[in-house]
Amino acid sequence: MNRMKPSVKMVMALVVTAGVAFAGPGPEIAAQKELKKVLAKKGDVVAGKDRYQAACASCHLDTGAGQPDGTFPQLAGQHPAVVLKQLTDIRAGARENAVMLGAAQSLSEQDMADIAAFLKILPIPRDNGRGEGEFLDDGQVLYKRDCVSCHGRSGEGDPKTYTPVLAGQHYKYLLRQMTNIRDGKRLNANPKMMDAIKGYTDTQVLAVTDFMSRLVMPELPKKKK
Ligand code: HEC
Ligand code: HEC
Repeated sequence: MNRMKPSVKMVMALVVTAGVAFAGPGPEIAAQKELKKVLAKKGDVVAGKDRYQAACASCHLDTGAGQPDGTFPQLAGQHPAVVLKQLTDIRAGARENAVMLGAAQSLSEQDMADIAAFLKILPIPRDNGRGEGEFLDDGQVLYKRDCVSCHGRSGEGDPKTYTPVLAGQHYKYLLRQMTNIRDGKRLNANPKMMDAIKGYTDTQVLAVTDFMSRLVMPELPKKKK
């Protein structure tokens, strides 16, 4: 048995290397499998709060607000399906994120479901980082033409298609994602979105990003008691 071990490891190493060399299908499939399992779990908000504070709040803050300088995205009010898609992608290497890989890999599947349920109930901050306000008219035209169909008028996204909430997100984080997606550097980018922005100039990216950093989610109707 002992003599078997190194060769099994070597085969594994080859499989892993091949996955990286052919850029994609390996990590993507692992992520999709895990995502299916975590989506089927029911999240517990109280357990999620504890787990979030222990593993995530040091960067994303207790409020889930992240940092206006764009280092850490805001997570408050994000669709659970989106949080889970990003977490499973990051864990499998289908989205590159060395900074939080350890934190993501420390979670059980139940932890992920719990944390996603907790983040959903946090209010989306309204003092997020915004752009300079220079090209807002152009940004609005582009957003309406190229983004509304998927991300919605107020940047509310859509959990059914794993489309993130953009409202309340920090300008500098958004700008980094937009540039990475346009330039093919975000591995899990949506192919149709890549098509929509592949011809964008840097100024168009700035314009649409500044516009989306100012989107505000509509107030939810108050629940009757
Ligand atoms: C050491 C700092 C750090 C810790 C701890 C950390 N993160 Fe992150 N997280 C980041 C950074 C940096 C990014 C953005 C990376 C990029 O620009 O792509 C990020 C991105 C994310 C995203 C993607 C957001 C989006 O809008 O696509 C999610 C979801 C997320 N983190 C959840 C978590 C959860 C849940 C935990 C706790 C288990 C956690 N993070 C712990 C640094 C951290
Ligand atoms: C065909 C649907 C579609 C269109 C059109 C589209 N997006 Fe997206 N967008 C998505 C999806 C889906 C994701 C999440 C991809 C993933 O990680 O699975 C995303 C991700 C993003 C992100 C990253 C958010 C984060 O939290 O990391 C930004 C920013 C963004 N889109 C902005 C835009 C803008 C601006 C436009 C218009 C110029 C646009 N999108 C057009 C579907 C779309």
